[in-house]
Amino acid sequence: MRRPVIAGNWKMYKTIREAVDFVQTLKPLVVATTHCEIVIAPVFTAIRAVADRLEGSNIRVASQDVAAETGPGAFTGEVSAAMVRDAGAAYAIVGHSERRQYYCETDTTVNQKARSALAAGLVPIVCVGERIDQRSAGKAETTVDEQLLGGLANLTAQEVSNIILAYEPVWAIGTGQTATPEIAEQMHSFIRSRLRKMFGDAQADGVRILYGGSVKPDNIARLMQEPDIDGALVGGASLDPDSFSRIVNYKDSR
Ligand code: PGA
Repeated sequence: MRRPVIAGNWKMYKTIREAVDFVQTLKPLVVATTHCEIVIAPVFTAIRAVADRLEGSNIRVASQDVAAETGPGAFTGEVSAAMVRDAGAAYAIVGHSERRQYYCETDTTVNQKARSALAAGLVPIVCVGERIDQRSAGKAETTVDEQLLGGLANLTAQEVSNIILAYEPVWAIGTGQTATPEIAEQMHSFIRSRLRKMFGDAQADGVRILYGGSVKPDNIARLMQEPDIDGALVGGASLDPDSFSRIVNYKDSR
């Protein structure tokens, strides 16, 4: 019922030329893939070129962030959701833990960004996840709960049916230390139960919740067996077309 999403988050990697080369290589590797949505998030400067190369394909483009302000306006250095859409993206990652950690994004900012993305017709991929100290202190669920309450504040049920969530435990990002399928499933099912309380059954059952944090070709199939894991947000392993295509095609490699 929930169509899986496999999304690659390239972070601050790849020039326009490198990004275009990547998608030209990736396209034939996933041309027959129908079981999931495939999304790639290049840097802002490469969105247009990548989107052009992907026209008519089964791969969609995301931005890695959007401005909180809808604009247009005097916000030096920012790129609005409408501009990202104009460049050819259909999704926008918001609230990634690196944005929260290095650029002081709060749940309030994440909420503004999610709403700006929705207003521009983008599908926001809203990231949540606890740090290791919060998990060690027994506060993993309360942390994620606060992020959900703040990040999704004032969204209508209709808007919530147009978002994707990504659970990315900070301790698993870029560390090679993937959450076990059991730990991930526990949090995904917690998130869904919170969505049920906040927005109702239809939204909770419909929203895709992706797992992120050291997803690789050799652990994706097992993660995807969990009932509440609806896909993956992939960092490092999305930078190579072969490795990313093996993650996308996890069903064939089982
Ligand atoms: P990783 O990154 O796959 O390299 O751990 C995931 C992410 O930051 O989205």
